[in-house]
Amino acid sequence: MDLNLAGRHALVCGASEGIGRAAAHELALLGANVTVLARRADVLAEVAAALPVVVEHQRHDACVADVSRHGPLHDAVQSLADRQPVHILVNNTGGPPGGRAIDADAGAYLDAFGKHLLANQILARAVVPGMQAAGWGRIVNVVSTSVKEPIANLGVSNTIRGAVASWAKTLSRELGGAGITVNNVLPGYTRTRRLEQILDDRVQATGKDQAAISASMLASVPAGRFAEAGEVAAAIAFLASPAAGYINGVSLAVDGGRMQSI
Ligand SMILES: NC(=O)c1ccc[n+]([C@@H]2O[C@H](COP(=O)([O-])OP(=O)(O)OC[C@H]3O[C@@H](n4cnc5c(N)ncnc54)[C@H](OP(=O)(O)O)[C@@H]3O)[C@@H](O)[C@H]2O)c1
Repeated sequence: MDLNLAGRHALVCGASEGIGRAAAHELALLGANVTVLARRADVLAEVAAALPVVVEHQRHDACVADVSRHGPLHDAVQSLADRQPVHILVNNTGGPPGGRAIDADAGAYLDAFGKHLLANQILARAVVPGMQAAGWGRIVNVVSTSVKEPIANLGVSNTIRGAVASWAKTLSRELGGAGITVNNVLPGYTRTRRLEQILDDRVQATGKDQAAISASMLASVPAGRFAEAGEVAAAIAFLASPAAGYINGVSLAVDGGRMQSI
């Protein structure tokens, strides 16, 4: 199986921690030159410096940007892509706050739409010309199982994830002929800061303690445990690899079997 990414340049967003950071690590292990993107410059510099180097001339870099500030995001990524074409784009950022759909005001929806769908579009438009020139590209979006089964108390997230999944499916059909694949990874409950936020929200909403909330969440997971970020990252790296060249337009759940739909 060809997993070799030597000579490819990957831009991994939301990579200062969690799933994004783990994805940057996996892609570097496959030989890619990785640029990590997030807001915290100091943390990003440490992440980039710690990424593995497994092939000659492999180098990693950091790009400080906020996906909710679209002008500076565009400028930073366009300048990066002009210097070094991006062959692999991992669209990923922090999830929207919890809460019921009916309780969220219009601003909460607009904010999430901007951070997820519009940022993805800005990033894709900056890097796709380089992929087209190379005749090879991979776009992997980190979304959520809620694109298939909405999750209680994540109303804004459920809504925005559906938009991202529809955008990705459309793009996969538009770009497939250019050797570019567009796929989604849908993490289940994964041990990161985001999961801590979700647990805290549920503690607030129900008054139960965190152990009881964790136990009730795990009762729905056949694997009986939360995922590690590296397990989600492995799926991202596989979809980015040459071996996955004929997989296009899919939403791959990495959820320990939690979803009930087929
Ligand atoms: N963990 C789970 O159980 C789970 C389950 C389903 C779906 N997901 C989704 O998967 C994605 C990643 O989750 P995660 O658990 O890895 O989250 P996380 O641990 O909270 O990490 C989020 C990453 O995004 C970056 N980020 C946040 N806001 C940003 C912004 N405005 N601009 C640029 N970067 C930003 C953060 O870095 P900076 O703070 O340095 O910017 C950080 O590197 C999220 O969309 C999450 O909702 C997670």
